[in-house]
Amino acid sequence: MNFISVLEAEKESDMFDEIHDVSWGEKHQISDRFSLLKRKQFFEDIEDKDVFNLIYFDAFGARVQPQLWTEEIFKKMFDALKVDGVLVTYSAKGSVRRAMQAVGFMVERLPGPPGKREMLRATKIKSE
Ligand SMILES: C[S@@+](CC[C@H](N)C(=O)[O-])C[C@H]1O[C@@H](n2cnc3c(N)ncnc32)[C@H](O)[C@@H]1O
Repeated sequence: MNFISVLEAEKESDMFDEIHDVSWGEKHQISDRFSLLKRKQFFEDIEDKDVFNLIYFDAFGARVQPQLWTEEIFKKMFDALKVDGVLVTYSAKGSVRRAMQAVGFMVERLPGPPGKREMLRATKIKSE
């Protein structure tokens, strides 16, 4: 999708460019209430604990990168989220759902975006 074409104000479009252009590894104040820190890091190396509210898990699909849709990776995502934190992904595969459940997530199937019948929402109800 060409996101720029759906942004109405010039200010929004400038902001869109800015979030892509800012450097990695340092915090940038994009607007009064929005700062951004972009980290260039492999999922495998994430060691954060209880810090994130939301993860948009947009890895390439399990057929291409099966190693990213495993219990090992979802455990890292689980640990990185705060309690009540949520991970969403476009995938609705049964094996993905089971891997998420195995590490402690409560998983729901939701209607997917256009072109996708279903997607998954995984919530960290409590720490394991
Ligand atoms: C479907 S794309 C997501 C694109 C992203 N949502 C965006 O808007 O730029 C998948 C991304 O995962 C990255 N990737 C591949 N292997 C990875 C890994 N082991 N850890 C973290 N990211 C990885 C790829 O470089 C690619 O940018």
